[in-house]
Amino acid sequence: MSQAMRPAARAAALLAAMSPSDKLALLSGVDPHVALGVADGPLYVGYVPPNPTLCIPALTLNDGPAGVAGLQVGTTAFPAPIAQAATWDLALQQKLGQAMGLEAWEKGVDVLLAPDVNIARIPENGRNFEAFGEDPFLSAETAVAVITGIQRNPVIATVKHFPVNSQETNRYYVSSNVDDRTLHEIYLPPFAAAVGQGKVGAVMCAYGAVNAIHSCQAPEFLTTILRDEWHFHGFVMSDWGATWSTVPAANAGLDLEMPGGVFFTSALSDAVAAGTVTSSTVDDAVRDILTSMFERGIFDRPPPALAGVALSDISTPADEHVALQTAEESTVLLKNAGGALPLRLGHGTSIALIGAPVGLDGVRPYVAGGGSSYTGGADPVSPLQALTARAAKAGATVVADSGADPTTAASVAGHANLAVVFAYDQEREGLDRDDLSLPLGQDQLIEQVAQANHHTIVVLDTGGPVLMPWLDQVSAVVEAWYPGEQDGNAVAAILFGDVNPSGRLPQTFPPSTAAVPASSGDQWPGSGGGQDAAFTEGLAVGYRWYDAHKVTPLFPFGYGLSYTSFAYSHLRIARSSAHLAVSFTVRNTGARAGAEVAQLYVDDPTAAGEPPKQLQGYQRVYLRPGRSTRLTIALTRRSFSVWDTASQSWRTTPGLYRILVGASSRDIRLRGFVRK
Ligand code: NOJ
Repeated sequence: MSQAMRPAARAAALLAAMSPSDKLALLSGVDPHVALGVADGPLYVGYVPPNPTLCIPALTLNDGPAGVAGLQVGTTAFPAPIAQAATWDLALQQKLGQAMGLEAWEKGVDVLLAPDVNIARIPENGRNFEAFGEDPFLSAETAVAVITGIQRNPVIATVKHFPVNSQETNRYYVSSNVDDRTLHEIYLPPFAAAVGQGKVGAVMCAYGAVNAIHSCQAPEFLTTILRDEWHFHGFVMSDWGATWSTVPAANAGLDLEMPGGVFFTSALSDAVAAGTVTSSTVDDAVRDILTSMFERGIFDRPPPALAGVALSDISTPADEHVALQTAEESTVLLKNAGGALPLRLGHGTSIALIGAPVGLDGVRPYVAGGGSSYTGGADPVSPLQALTARAAKAGATVVADSGADPTTAASVAGHANLAVVFAYDQEREGLDRDDLSLPLGQDQLIEQVAQANHHTIVVLDTGGPVLMPWLDQVSAVVEAWYPGEQDGNAVAAILFGDVNPSGRLPQTFPPSTAAVPASSGDQWPGSGGGQDAAFTEGLAVGYRWYDAHKVTPLFPFGYGLSYTSFAYSHLRIARSSAHLAVSFTVRNTGARAGAEVAQLYVDDPTAAGEPPKQLQGYQRVYLRPGRSTRLTIALTRRSFSVWDTASQSWRTTPGLYRILVGASSRDIRLRGFVRK
């Protein structure tokens, strides 16, 4: 077959040569250990066997969103996706995707099970760390950048978990009961962008149900929206064990059962024989998979060396640099009273490093969330290692304490010139957090240390928002997320000011467990013991709810401090080819070089029935002290549209739209108007 043929034509030609059993074999995964005769050890999380007669290569699938994960070893542990989003840096996210995709390719992974774009509806979600936060626009932009990067390689990216998977409690059975408008405006946009702009090759349908229909057998999502409206040409695989049937699933548009072996094997050929699934439905599924494989060059790459490749170390200095830059750019400076940071240390200054994530006595620092995406790295750089080295350069010394006993920790802190407490939460797939407090008595640890040393800085290694009852007692707070293997290097660079913090929150930090958008049991975990989650907050997800209800967050969406300051001026709104061009000037008014993330929100006319303001554009810009630049953000017709359920289309409500430009969702610096 000629490589010059287009992927669809190659898929059609191959399909024509396939027998019913050839086709069936492509629609369900098998256990790779059995298929490859490997008793145990690192292998792929999913595997579709090859067909040597037809020269169809095996399809290997593996997690995930923070780098090639699971049992694969020798890969780079990149920062968690919530951190990737916190950079608001599309160029870097694309580089990161490219590095993850290259490592996947080198490990013989054809399908990387990333990115996860589920919207952070509730901060307690156990997989909060694994996706891009609460805003559909930010998630969509981030997803497109990451997917574009991954697919620069002969690797298929997978956007997941379609269409909704916003909690882990009862995740296999929960029905997310959400109205059509909210679905289209909040939960679907990142998927639509992944398909439309990102040209993603695969979609993974979610475990749970939406409006009582399991996602992997919902024709409304798998066919009407994905194929008919968005023109998706790739394939849909089920999440692992999320196929619930043969006939409804196949007819709804599910192509590949993973990990396989239950519903899309003999039961599917029986269904074809019985006429409950047509042979053209089977052909469609085969075509979807083959087209995506041809599209990415899976047929054209040399076959992977499998187990041998899986064991080798393929992390390069270039990949580690991307991991470091992402960790640095994602770190959010939340509080910096009296310019406590960056550290200015005199000779002989002593720093007490407190807490388990410090990495004392061989304890691994807390660099990744748990579950299928876990990537710990072979040898992550601990804060203890990196800060000891960096402090030595400044003529300072470091003492460390695990924080296991707060009284001992407080005494260590009391004898030092300053204390840095590292605190963490333990997000993991399969389990939501009980509440938003730091676990394991860490609030008490921070309070006792802060009492013993008035110069206390807190570094958070968390997958999402936590409450901070001790906020007033500490000088500075840094959110470092799950920073991946470059953990210590990134935090040292930020604390010492070698890097100016520029991360911005992709998610609101609530003031209390009660003051959150989904605060009733019916909303989360849902009634009937988590059977039905009522998305009654509707469009009021994340900052949209805080704005609508005039609740002051602990830290707002889009927020993050810098060691310098920025001024905004000269707003201009002009017609452009895209639709509208909003331009303004940003000036670095401080003494240090640094990056600002300028954010553009649109406030619709009241008649549109939308939350008070919504992110419709942003731009990250690096400026030297005293320098200014003119930024232009393009707005499209969609920026001024709402989903009209009656006509099932995007509509613009006539009226006055406010254009709000600023440094966070609660720090608007420039205001303009547009009439539609
Ligand atoms: C289940 C998870 O939900 C999904 O994200 C992951 O890709 C698969 N397991 C495979 O590990």
